[in-house]
Amino acid sequence: MNNTKSVGIIGLGTYVPDKILTNKDMEKIVETSDEWIVERTGIRERRIADPSMATSDLATFAAERALADAGVSADEIDLIIVGTATPDMLFPATACLVQANLKAVNAAAFDLAAGCSGFVYGLITGAQFIQAGLYKKVLVIGAETLSRILDWTDRGTCVLFGDGAGAAVLGETTNGFGILGADLGADGTGGDFLKMPGGGSKNPASKESIEGRMHYIHMTGNEVFKFAVRVMGESAVKSLQLAGLDSDQVDLLIPHQANIRIIQSAAKRLKLSMNKVAVNVDKYGNTSAASIPLALKESVDSGRIKDGDTIVLVGFGAGLTWASCVLKWGKEAQYIAK
Ligand code: UT7
Repeated sequence: MNNTKSVGIIGLGTYVPDKILTNKDMEKIVETSDEWIVERTGIRERRIADPSMATSDLATFAAERALADAGVSADEIDLIIVGTATPDMLFPATACLVQANLKAVNAAAFDLAAGCSGFVYGLITGAQFIQAGLYKKVLVIGAETLSRILDWTDRGTCVLFGDGAGAAVLGETTNGFGILGADLGADGTGGDFLKMPGGGSKNPASKESIEGRMHYIHMTGNEVFKFAVRVMGESAVKSLQLAGLDSDQVDLLIPHQANIRIIQSAAKRLKLSMNKVAVNVDKYGNTSAASIPLALKESVDSGRIKDGDTIVLVGFGAGLTWASCVLKWGKEAQYIAK
């Protein structure tokens, strides 16, 4: 990107609930099988949040860990962006609830509704404020309690999703590190393919909306699948082009974790072998906006991402939306710049 300031991730934190629901457990809930779920999606288990916890709680845990990782205190945060499809309430924004929990008294706060693309949308949005010189530190969170809006009688959706949260602190970094290229996009004509129709101004909560099961995820899976296969590769290539890089210079691809077959097709489009692709959909299912930061943190912790590596984050989701960015990783370099 043609900017003077380099902006990157200077701290990461995640949180997943302890409760595990395996495919065998799902067999007791709907007519499905471990074999079908693994073969068609790659998912083996997912996490389910305790009823006492809402999205803002998961987001707060992840954010506290990201702040500690960055060595940044809550009052240094200028802005909090929460990407979520499962806010605590329609309003106030979940980001405001997190701001209160963290006592991030100097932070502005808003939610970003880009479905599963929410975390990468948030990263790119947050980076603009730093590049413009308005803010120095931005906290970007992807957090979901999708288990609350799943129709546990619909085997086409309830086996796919899980709960979790991931957070990143964005700050100015040493020149050449951080975000090198990015791409955001939307195609609202596909909005009907993935939605929760009830509870907003179109279908406010009513007896009819409840009887019509409108307060759950409704998805036309095969349409979302086709869209995902196309945009994941296209968007990643666009970000790489903006960064002046080819896909053979990518050290690790961190795709949205929705379905192993979608991930494999994105890897194929980028001519990347699967050992250059982060996969944890087997453990968490689709955690929507949380999936990319969860996979990113896991890759950093396991040593799979090293200083100087070129990594690509790419997601797609409700909207329909897509988002990708290329990052040059270098925590040490980033810490110097902090
Ligand atoms: O983050 C963005 C969110 N969404 C996604 O990324 C979803 C993208 N889409 C997908 O991942 C896939 O389309 C699904 C996993 C949702 C479905 O896989 P598919 O290979 O497209 O299956 P399908 O919908 O074409 O269904 C094939 C069959 C159907 O049976 P019939 O009509 O052929 O007899 C379904 O009823 O599989 C059946 N089926 C199931 N069977 C066992 C659907 N869900 C299940 C299930 N267990 N859980």
